[in-house]
Amino acid sequence: MSSKKLETTLVSAGRSKKFTLGSVNPVIQRASSLVFDSVKAKKHATINRGKGELFYGRRGTLTHFALQEAMTELEGGAGCVLYPCGAAAISNAILAFVSAGDHVLMTGSAYEPAQSFCDKILSRMQVSTRYFDPLIGSAIGKLVQPNTKVVFLESPGSITMEIQDIPAIVRAIRAVSPKVIIIMDNTWAAGVLFKPLDFDIDISIQSGTKYLIGHSDAMLGIAVANARCWEQLREDSYLMGQMVDADSAYLASRGLRTLGVRLKQHEANGIDVANWLAQRPEVAHVYHPALPDCQGHEFYQRDFSGCNGLFSFELKHRLTQQQFENYLDNFHHFSMAFSWGGFESLILAYQPEDIKAIRKYEATAPQGTLVRVHIGLENTQDLIEDLAAGFARIASAQ
Ligand SMILES: Cc1ncc(COP(=O)(O)O)c(C=O)c1O
Repeated sequence: MSSKKLETTLVSAGRSKKFTLGSVNPVIQRASSLVFDSVKAKKHATINRGKGELFYGRRGTLTHFALQEAMTELEGGAGCVLYPCGAAAISNAILAFVSAGDHVLMTGSAYEPAQSFCDKILSRMQVSTRYFDPLIGSAIGKLVQPNTKVVFLESPGSITMEIQDIPAIVRAIRAVSPKVIIIMDNTWAAGVLFKPLDFDIDISIQSGTKYLIGHSDAMLGIAVANARCWEQLREDSYLMGQMVDADSAYLASRGLRTLGVRLKQHEANGIDVANWLAQRPEVAHVYHPALPDCQGHEFYQRDFSGCNGLFSFELKHRLTQQQFENYLDNFHHFSMAFSWGGFESLILAYQPEDIKAIRKYEATAPQGTLVRVHIGLENTQDLIEDLAAGFARIASAQ
């Protein structure tokens, strides 16, 4: 039989009988204590507690194991650790591999709290961090020091959307030091549009809060690791008390079943709106991975299998405070909120100085106000009318 295609994996992964017990979906098994029938059974569970054997709630239940198995299959890893949110997955994955005196290289376009974790917490542990240009490519090899333990990537970058040349970056790091642990925040790809482990990355992280759960009603973090990192990541995270409730794990498994079709619709809607924005006189650049203005667009074309609904665009001018407020406060279909990946459209905007403050490498700050949109599953004509009214509000306020 030929190997399963993505859509089939999304429907079938993590749904074997041992997890579903006769129903279609994995059971929701809420538990702290798990009862052993005998001393022998307890001993067996203890020996196999990291290998999907029921042991104690903090190690997971059938609901967690089903999701872990599905994500491991989807990303082609050796195992998957679940966290209460994406930020916990990021911090715990880095923590599992650094000690005092070590050095971390992090893409300068990483999600801001990932940077703050390094600046505020790793620094207290005498672990230093250097931020690099996301478009650095093979020149990253020159930044790898003898004490560099972790390189952290994210592509596309948060807010500014730079696409990294992942193969060149990974090759250059491995050429200098094969021992470096390479971790990637793969949230934008939702674990399917880009497969980090196929590119020799050690750990793929995803905020399941976004497209996986997909309905803006629960939080979850996921890290899928290869064979060399899996055990250490699993055991260190366990010692740090990382755990997620069975209900959120269930929602993530359920989200998987429709992830493929939702992403396709987000992609179509996002491209529709991005193309419209690219024609607007108020817009200087549209940073959508599938459009040529996005930095690293050629790497997107080469390495990704598609896109989602999250992108940004830069206005030709920096909005005045009055324009900024009047623009953002009055949308009908776009809500102003953090996060993304749900069924609904969202909008946030950043002034050039806001971007400069979260770019700790030699980066060119945008000249105009930067707007990030998440294009949801609404009809795009309604969204476009809403955005057009937003431009009219900018013109009418000074
Ligand atoms: C790229 C990226 N990574 C990680 C996170 C953190 O995820 P969570 O909100 O689940 O902690 C976010 C949240 O916005 C994100 O955008």
